[in-house]
Amino acid sequence: VVMKEVFDVRAMEEELTAKLGVKEVHIVPGDSDDYPWVLKEMGRSTVNVIKRHLLPEKNTIAVTGGRSIANVADMLIPDTDLKETLFVPARGGLGEQVENQANTICATMARKAMGRYRLLHVPDQLGRDAYESLIYDPIIKEILELIRSSTMVVHGIGEAMAMAERRNSSDEVLEKLKETEAVAEAFGYYFNADGEIVHKVLTIGLQLEDLKNIPTVISVAGGRTKANAIRAYLKRNPNQVLITDEGAAKEMLTKL
Ligand code: G3H
Repeated sequence: VVMKEVFDVRAMEEELTAKLGVKEVHIVPGDSDDYPWVLKEMGRSTVNVIKRHLLPEKNTIAVTGGRSIANVADMLIPDTDLKETLFVPARGGLGEQVENQANTICATMARKAMGRYRLLHVPDQLGRDAYESLIYDPIIKEILELIRSSTMVVHGIGEAMAMAERRNSSDEVLEKLKETEAVAEAFGYYFNADGEIVHKVLTIGLQLEDLKNIPTVISVAGGRTKANAIRAYLKRNPNQVLITDEGAAKEMLTKL
């Protein structure tokens, strides 16, 4: 029985890799919509994938916020390979609670892995003027350069409306997301079912187009309710490794 289950997961990973056109898919058993421990297993699996993709030296890992990535941080333990790693937040504030913020998760990762970190102290919901002046601040500029030269990105994918509500977005933004039929969200970008950008939170840090210069991009997202979001986001950004769960994987496979 155990052998069969192992085989089934492998087959599902291969099928999903081919159908999504991504680099690799890793599926953990269960559905994180039902059981929180599944998020922990995705975290554990992600740590293994991170370690396998480290460069021999000078690793900079940019991370986003969210519960999925917080669970990756939980699973990190001191490791000689990670000791010299620099952790940075992928983008500035997106309106999350402190435990879900990229800065918090980035600092936790560095502490747990005994690596180093730099933070990006920018306020949420930047106005155009504040944004323009911040990007010319020398300290911010330096950290932005570090973020852009990351060797790896580890990010979550959310359901568009769930993310907008969690971040207390304005009625105007909620309306725009409904009108444009947004289904997915990743590091402050919102996407429709075709994977087109329909809205973007005004904050500094990694831009979507920066991803193509980063050797390893890993997304961590599971639960059957995230299936449409994952599929939509990966449509235009397939050059990635996906860590997901059985719930999301099965749901995606029925529709691909
Ligand atoms: O950008 C996507 C969200 O950060 C995903 O958040 O992992 O808490 O579902 P989550």
